[in-house]
Amino acid sequence: MVKSAYISALKNPVFRTISKASENLNLESYVIGGYVRDYILNRGEAKDIDIVAVGSGIDLAEEVSKLLPGKPKVSVFKTYGTAMLKSGGIELEFVGARKESYSEESRNPEVENGTLEDDQNRRDFTINALALSLNEGNFGELLDPFNGIEDLKNKIIRTPLNPDITYSDDPLRMLRAIRFASQLEFTIEKNSLEAITRNSKRIKIISTERIVDELNKILLSDTPSKGFTLLHKTGLLPFILPELIALEGIDEKEGQTHKDNFWHTLEVVDNISKTTDDLWLRWAALLHDIGKAPTKKFDQKLGWTFHTHEFVGAKMVYKLFKRLKMPLNEKMKFVQKMVLMSSRPIVLASEVTDSAVRRLIFDAGEYVDDLMTLCEADITTKNSKKFRKYHDNFQLVRNKIVEVEARDQVRNFQPPVTGEEIMETFNLKPSREIGIIKDAIKEAILEGEIPNEYEAAKKYMLKKGESIGLKVVK
Ligand code: CTP
Repeated sequence: MVKSAYISALKNPVFRTISKASENLNLESYVIGGYVRDYILNRGEAKDIDIVAVGSGIDLAEEVSKLLPGKPKVSVFKTYGTAMLKSGGIELEFVGARKESYSEESRNPEVENGTLEDDQNRRDFTINALALSLNEGNFGELLDPFNGIEDLKNKIIRTPLNPDITYSDDPLRMLRAIRFASQLEFTIEKNSLEAITRNSKRIKIISTERIVDELNKILLSDTPSKGFTLLHKTGLLPFILPELIALEGIDEKEGQTHKDNFWHTLEVVDNISKTTDDLWLRWAALLHDIGKAPTKKFDQKLGWTFHTHEFVGAKMVYKLFKRLKMPLNEKMKFVQKMVLMSSRPIVLASEVTDSAVRRLIFDAGEYVDDLMTLCEADITTKNSKKFRKYHDNFQLVRNKIVEVEARDQVRNFQPPVTGEEIMETFNLKPSREIGIIKDAIKEAILEGEIPNEYEAAKKYMLKKGESIGLKVVK
């Protein structure tokens, strides 16, 4: 491509400002990494821009700030020799060109100043080592010593150096390779893939937060199974999500088998990714069957069973989130709820009664639609007749949910008669009886015996109270 083609990547006036600042300091600077890659891939102009200075990145950041309107604050990270500033909705990260070598035991590199080419050498992939000059003489020129442009065109992930060195220097890159393969639908070049497989256990030195960042990006790609298949193939998955690997395999006893729940899970994740971008619903799909490994049993009469796997799975969700230092907040609770309820609509699919649907809405509350989305994604049968039938039944369930909800409003159920009213009516102190009556009213509503309305519920309360020997005083 001709040089001018890349000037269009530098239309934002901030690049001219950086160029001017570099000239003032008499040093060279370049845009490098994700910004250049994503621009050439037509993924739009990224909001995070990495600038490499052949000299001090911190000095350059400070000079740039002086030239920008409002002189934005520069955050300096002395230990890493980097500096960051925000301007006009973009985040600029400055670093001095470096030569680096990492120690075996940690990600903290020993750093020496270097040339642009030294800096490009130590980057993770050829497609991330592309640099555009911000220097007066050749503004917009692409510097691409490893032919990353060709790899971008051919959709290939390749390391600039021997992959054993690149991955061993920073094992997080093994996950990044897989994440880019999944996110951009690229192929990891053979030597690289072999090096990841050889070095997989070095992922242990990487912090869980960084691992989860990459996992989330894999989960958010269009076809997450691509990433998870690579994690499996390279041997990384057991270090990250052993609960998933435990689902792999098919057992046979007395001629009876069960499905391979690992590969089934990946299909479910791909299915759900076609209908939702919600990260947590995708996590729910990934974890919906994890309770099946510890609960698997063979029963002479029933064949393979996974009794209580939803309950066990929901408990495992908590442990897994905790281990991976993921949020233990309402997101985790949502995933737990989805796992716990993941088999409920399937039972309904054979017979859709009003009361069963009311119970489903009552238990799933505001998440009933997400639950239906998960259960539809869970249909992976290759029998097209069954596939149709299950989907049709779930459509019936969905219709019924709308109908029942419009009539009975149990999604955010509030008891139509309060505990206080029950106490006053029967002159009760706080006691068991109040719970019994409240439960009976709720059950009657869910069963469809009475509508979800005050008058009907009050009448029912009087009847129930009398049946357990209470006297009305009011
Ligand atoms: N980089 C690297 N090794 C890493 C992380 C990053 O060599 N472990 C380099 C790459 O050149 C990368 C640049 O630093 O392009 C910026 O990294 P980062 O902002 O984390 O990623 P991007 O490539 O910009 O991509 P994304 O924003 O999708 O994460």
